[in-house]
Amino acid sequence: TSDLDATARDILRANDRGGYTIPTAGLYPYQWNWDSAFAAWGFSTFDIDRAWTELETLFSGQWSNGMVPHILFHKPDPGYFPGPEVWQSGTTPPTSGISQPPVAAILARLIHQRDPENSRLAALYPKLLAWHRWWREHRCTHGPAAVTHPWESGRDNCPEWDPGMANVDGSNVGPYTRRDTGHVDPSMRPKKEDYDRYVAILQFGRDHGWDQKEIVANGPFLMADPAMTFILIRAHRDLAEIARTLGEDPSEPESWARDLEAALPEIWNADLHCYDARDLRTGTFANTLGSGAFLAWLAGIENGEMERRLMACWDAVPYGIPSSDPKGPAFDPRRYWRGPTWPVVNALIAMGFRDAGRTAEERRLRGETAALITKGGFYEYFDPTDGTPCGGDTFTWTAAIWLGWAS
Ligand code: DGY
Repeated sequence: TSDLDATARDILRANDRGGYTIPTAGLYPYQWNWDSAFAAWGFSTFDIDRAWTELETLFSGQWSNGMVPHILFHKPDPGYFPGPEVWQSGTTPPTSGISQPPVAAILARLIHQRDPENSRLAALYPKLLAWHRWWREHRCTHGPAAVTHPWESGRDNCPEWDPGMANVDGSNVGPYTRRDTGHVDPSMRPKKEDYDRYVAILQFGRDHGWDQKEIVANGPFLMADPAMTFILIRAHRDLAEIARTLGEDPSEPESWARDLEAALPEIWNADLHCYDARDLRTGTFANTLGSGAFLAWLAGIENGEMERRLMACWDAVPYGIPSSDPKGPAFDPRRYWRGPTWPVVNALIAMGFRDAGRTAEERRLRGETAALITKGGFYEYFDPTDGTPCGGDTFTWTAAIWLGWAS
């Protein structure tokens, strides 16, 4: 309804810190990478200039190696851990030392379609290209796209990362104080043993001066991620489309997309009947079905066996795509990425359904997500079994996808 549209716009404005949008006050007080790209999409429905500014501010944190970090620490905030003094990026602005799913090209293309005469995309293009090249050179060397930290995937504590995390030693990280559990219900957040390991992986990167070759070769965590692979395939293709629109040469991003497609057999788990995360240190599959596998359609990947398995997973709950299989042993319906449904992931999956011509599935997923928001508010995530709102309230990307979807 138009009331909820107005509320969604108010949330984006209230979370605007001047050129960038925080995900939600308290819990996430800085600029997060993929949250910000979604914020731009939301802004583009009512303030197109502000949308471009959001993306430009995000790329103001780009490293000289092309990486766009997962957090930009524009202003100090003691309410968040781990802050700039822990990451020690040595950059201006200070940032984290890992990246996050590269949805910016996907959303920049949609924003440009609303505003085709605007030249701000042309200025962003070389920066997007440099970031995508960084993914090619530093995360796709094993074939499929890999993540070097669960936070890099954006799906922090999903069960897919359990085998990789089991091999991380979190016992020597020293004392630290979490801040997240002071902002929201701790039972909806990752556990202490997860945090110890998150910090240990961070410390390895920092202690090696964020040397990408060292982190990929010898870091404590390296897992192939179907979700990242699908998002990158789509983002590379959208970047190639952007290149065509601007009269640039699309061949580089096109070849990167083709290389990733060719690597997909490496993450096909025949026992699971789905694409699956894989520990690149040991070669073992996670044997876990999660919402990341549903992003196949976003990359234009179809396969009947996979589809039957995924639809059964979705049919097991009434509200949205669950972040882990409700019939799996790890399912925990309110704990962050171990079960809850995330409106932002549903929006990406629905984009894939739409482009595959699967209008019935798209309509169903939009309907279930809208029901959650209408009933529970613009929360970060929801219990897919009963619709209980979870995590942070007045959440930027939930508001943003509501607006992006409606228009
Ligand atoms: C957090 O702090 O929980 C974030 O997800 C890390 O990016």
